[in-house]
Parts: sequence; structure tokens; C-alpha cells
Amino acid sequence: MSTLHHEMPMIKLPNGVLVPALGQGTWRMGEDPAHKANEIKALRTGIDLGMTLIDTAEMYGSGKTERLVGDAIQGAREKVFLVSKVVPLHAGRLDLANACEGSLRRLRTDRLDLYLLHWRNGASLPSVVDGFERLREQGKIRSWGVSNFDLEDMEDLRKVPHGAEVATNQVLYNLMNRECEWALEPWCRARDIPLMAYTPFADGALLRHPAVIRVAEAHSATRAQVALAWLLNQHAVMVIPKASDARHARENRAAAELRLTTEDLNQLERAFPPPRRATSLKVA
Ligand SMILES: NC(=O)c1ccc[n+]([C@@H]2O[C@H](COP(=O)([O-])OP(=O)(O)OC[C@H]3O[C@@H](n4cnc5c(N)ncnc54)[C@H](OP(=O)(O)O)[C@@H]3O)[C@@H](O)[C@H]2O)c1
Repeated sequence: MSTLHHEMPMIKLPNGVLVPALGQGTWRMGEDPAHKANEIKALRTGIDLGMTLIDTAEMYGSGKTERLVGDAIQGAREKVFLVSKVVPLHAGRLDLANACEGSLRRLRTDRLDLYLLHWRNGASLPSVVDGFERLREQGKIRSWGVSNFDLEDMEDLRKVPHGAEVATNQVLYNLMNRECEWALEPWCRARDIPLMAYTPFADGALLRHPAVIRVAEAHSATRAQVALAWLLNQHAVMVIPKASDARHARENRAAAELRLTTEDLNQLERAFPPPRRATSLKVA
């Protein structure tokens, strides 16, 4: 496959901001000092190649991951679209501002581009949205969204004052986990709310699947690239593979060049059919 990089496909958020369809995850990074140099190198390689959307969370490594991301983006902050997440326990009216300050401090920045509620878990949606909106007014965050919200959660959110300002929903989505396609994705599509797909390789299981191997071989591409290209081919989906190896980061970036044919898509559709009955969203 060609390694020539064309323009990165972009996704428009509801506030009109364009973000790269292919970003970088960071879960499990920053936990072992022995891997720090490689992890920073991988993230910087990805940024240089246009994968400037970086997803992290206060929960990852109990703050260690945000610190690593803070190191990785030094000198490149203006290029990066920085996403972090707050756990529901910290999303109450007072705690949210503190949680955000903590993330900003660890990330060594003065604002987040996108701040997500990591999962719902009984969080009071009116107070979470109110807190997000205050942070936005103060310039600490540019936009906010949610993660692991199924259809009913999104419907509840839209009923809350300013709930319709939600920028995205970050969900488990890959060829083996197509649950969101049953009801959530069409609902979001109708409202121009893009999805952000996490765990694109299904914990590696996809990379061993014969159908993925066949398509990869037909294009002299890698299996990971097929998994990513399929997601990039979906409507309004951002994808955030995590790579702590710079070679993986380069390989993932090149997935945006892979054009799956109708025949490839049909093969993958047969091997990984979409849900045929009501199915709930799964969580990693
Ligand atoms: N909102 C949520 O609840 C939630 C849940 C899970 C994940 N996430 C976010 O989504 C991101 C991605 O999900 P994930 O970390 O679960 O899994 P993932 O990105 O599907 O997989 C990461 C694994 O794939 C490997 N890998 C990366 N590129 C590869 C390539 N080109 N070829 C072969 N292997 C490759 C990585 O290895 P190396 O590290 O050695 O390069 C790592 O072992 C997370 O990092 C996190 O930011 C969010």
C-alpha cells in the first residue's frame, strides 16, 4: 500500500469545528516510566502526521496518562484537539470545576477542546450540562460531550436545558461491535451528532479474523488498517486507535489512504453482520 499521505478526512462537530476523523487514544499509556519515551514518540509521530485529535481521561492511570499527554503535546498544543473525560463521581456541580482544573494542570494547558462525561452511571444530567456550560463560558473547555450513552441516555440528555449542545458520543464501535448501529447511530445521524469510535481493533480479535486478513492481503495493507478503514468509511465517525509504538502510529495514519472496494465491504458485511434485533450498546 502507498505510504504517501493525502489530506486527512475531517469530521464537522455540531459547533462547526473540523476535527480529524483519525485521532489517537491513550488508555494504558503513562503507567510505566520505562515506556514513556516510546509513548511520547508515538503520539508526536501521530500529531506530525495529522492525527491531532488526542483522547485521554482523568481516570487513565489515575492521572498519569494525562501527565504523559501533557508532555507529548508541549510545543504542539495549538495543533492538537485535546479531549479528556470526567468520571460521573466528579461530575456534580462543584466537583466538575475541580476535576477540570486537575485535568488542565496535568495536561499543562489552559483549555480542553472537548470534555466528555466518561459514562452516565446515575449522574444528574441537568447539573452535568450546567457545569459543562459554565466551563465553556469560562473558556476552560471549547465543547462538551458524552461517552457510553445509549439511545435512552441521549434522549434524556436532549431534554435537559442546553442538552442539545452535545458535540459527540464516544462509544465502543468496531466491526465486531456494531451494536450502536441498531438505534443510536441513526438517532445521532438525524441530529448531526458524530460518533467517536473507541477500541477499533476489538482488543486484537479483529486482527486475527480471516475476513479481515483476506481484505488486508488483497490490498497489501495490514489488518489494523482494514479495521480502521472500515470505521472511516462509516458516516460521521471519528476513530481513536491507541498506539504506543511509532510504527503503529504511522501504519494507522496510512489507513486513511486505504479505499475499500464494494467487494471488500460486502465480504466484511457477511463476516460481521450488523445487529438484526434490538441490541444495547456494549461498553469496553
Ligand atoms: N470512553 C471509553 O469508555 C473508552 C473505553 C476504551 C477506550 N477508549 C479510548 O479509545 C482508545 C482506543 O481504544 P483501546 O486503547 O481500548 O484499543 P485499540 O486502540 O483498539 O487497541 C490498542 C492496541 O492495539 C495496538 N495497535 C495499535 N495500532 C496497531 C497497529 N497498527 N497494528 C497492530 N496493533 C496495533 C496497540 O499496541 P501498541 O500500544 O503497542 O502500539 C494496543 O495494544 C483508548 O486508548 C481510549 O483513549 C475509551
